[in-house]
Amino acid sequence: MSAPGGDETGGITVGPLEFADAHACAALERLLFAGESPWPAAAFAEELRAPHTRFFAARRSSPQHPRPWLVGYAGIALLGGAEPESEVHTIAVDPKVQGRGVGRRLLALLLAEADAHGGPVFLDVRTDNAPAIALYRSEGFENVGLRPRYYQPSGADAYVMCRAAGAGAGEKKENAR
Ligand SMILES: CC(C)(COP(=O)(O)OP(=O)(O)OC[C@H]1O[C@@H](n2cnc3c(N)ncnc32)[C@H](O)[C@@H]1OP(=O)(O)O)[C@@H](O)C(=O)NCCC(=O)NCCS
Repeated sequence: MSAPGGDETGGITVGPLEFADAHACAALERLLFAGESPWPAAAFAEELRAPHTRFFAARRSSPQHPRPWLVGYAGIALLGGAEPESEVHTIAVDPKVQGRGVGRRLLALLLAEADAHGGPVFLDVRTDNAPAIALYRSEGFENVGLRPRYYQPSGADAYVMCRAAGAGAGEKKENAR
């Protein structure tokens, strides 16, 4: 059964990211993106205030700690006017719960927003980030470019990946049967 306001699987629910999560997001950023100018709490607050962004959280709770705590977040910008497109701004999962489907659930929420908005979806990913690249490919993204030394201060290269407009339509049809 789903928890109020979220989809629940194995003690982890997904739902909207709140302003009160900004400091927990920044702490996960420091852990996961140490070499790439991790966003401070103020950056998350700014993203949440922007009218064209959509952000989601994954929260965990347990019988011992019934008050949920943040274990992941993801955000997307819905851009363009007559020719809409979207851009994944961030997705991150606490290493303690990686590999349990949380990243895929967060990405699915972003893609549902992007599909409702229309147009292609773009993102940047480190060329050596095999887990993220595998996730994106499995959701219909393809490499469309390379940005040398895109990430700073690490100097790591990025692939630009794109999921074509309507790429989720087949999956939706399958589910609708
Ligand atoms: C990328 C990330 C968000 C994935 O989240 P996750 O919850 O661990 O991923 P999931 O359990 O939902 O796995 C989804 C898919 O990702 C891929 N994947 C996940 N972990 C993987 C690993 N260690 N190696 C290879 N592929 C992996 C697989 O395709 C997997 O699908 P499968 O389980 O059907 O094989 C997570 O690893 C993370 O937070 N990494 C650090 C931050 C980051 O790099 N963010 C992306 C920036 S572009």
